[in-house]
Amino acid sequence: MSNALKKSTGSMTPESTVAANEKLIAAIDKYYANTSQIKSSHCAVPIELALSEEVPDVSLFLATTDSKNHPAYKIFREEGLYLSTVEVQALIDNGVKNVYILRSDVPKFTQYVERVLVEMPTTSPMVDQKKVTLLRDSAIGVMTEIFASPTPEAIEKGVKVVNGFVYLLMKDPKAYDILLSLSSHDHYTLQHSVGVATNAIILGKKVGVNDEAALIELGIGGLLHDIGKTKVPTEIINKKGPLDESEWAVMKQHSLFGYEILKDNPNVGMRAKLAVLQHHEETNGTGYPVGLSGPQIDLFAKVTTIADIYNALTTDRSYSTARSPFDAFKLIRDKLSHKIDAELFDSMVKIYGGKAP
Ligand SMILES: [Fe+2]
Ligand SMILES: [Fe+2]
Repeated sequence: MSNALKKSTGSMTPESTVAANEKLIAAIDKYYANTSQIKSSHCAVPIELALSEEVPDVSLFLATTDSKNHPAYKIFREEGLYLSTVEVQALIDNGVKNVYILRSDVPKFTQYVERVLVEMPTTSPMVDQKKVTLLRDSAIGVMTEIFASPTPEAIEKGVKVVNGFVYLLMKDPKAYDILLSLSSHDHYTLQHSVGVATNAIILGKKVGVNDEAALIELGIGGLLHDIGKTKVPTEIINKKGPLDESEWAVMKQHSLFGYEILKDNPNVGMRAKLAVLQHHEETNGTGYPVGLSGPQIDLFAKVTTIADIYNALTTDRSYSTARSPFDAFKLIRDKLSHKIDAELFDSMVKIYGGKAP
């Protein structure tokens, strides 16, 4: 949490700290809504988010009207100049609801907002739930960008989002339950990617991947596991009904394509790249692209494989409805056990309630 926010909440009673954080969360929620639909040169920022000494160095504007009564913006704080929280408080006291930033400064400001979000202390269930939901939504936003065009810049944002997840998980054990509850309620590849990253991080932590950097790498592998699908023709990706043999052959190349997209990217660790390359290898040697068997497959890839299968089975898809965790585990045990690592499977079952199917 930023110092200013700490200062402003430090001396309050617990109830008013809760209220302050709920206000801040509402402001962040609003901010994300604003940035998802910027229609002009400037983007509105709820003023509570400017009440900190850690606001990034961007120009801030206030809304006004020009001589013809058209909406306009006047500069409040020029980039490079000191912003005092007293000035911002004065605006709040005068009923100002928003400051405005240039559209081009949105990425920089969003990074700051994400930090505030992740570092916000846990004060109430509402804040926790909202915090994790917002983080997940921002991850889905980043995945939209990555799937539109998997550039190194977009991937770097993905790396930052996974950092946020892992940070939250390490710091706040309660986030674990909330992340679990969020990981399977989705419909599309983007949400699937975020769900797989979430499941992979949680399973990794359960099986002894305790180092923060390693968990981040595992999450990145999960997030990007299907990135190679961006190189598969959309006719194949979106085809209703089963793929024919030649289409299937192209589809199966997505793990190799994914590895090729990432292989020279310094922001992505080697084991995350291996997870992308090997997530369709199967422990009995019948998978692709190489046909590796159990001991040859990297642990991060094995974790990603289970997270992937589990997320797919427990999610509504165009051709099947979501299964309960129990039914998913039963199906994996009965029909798909050749694909997965048995010990990891047991750990996954324990995470979701401890009952074996
Ligand atoms: Fe895949
Ligand atoms: Fe997948």
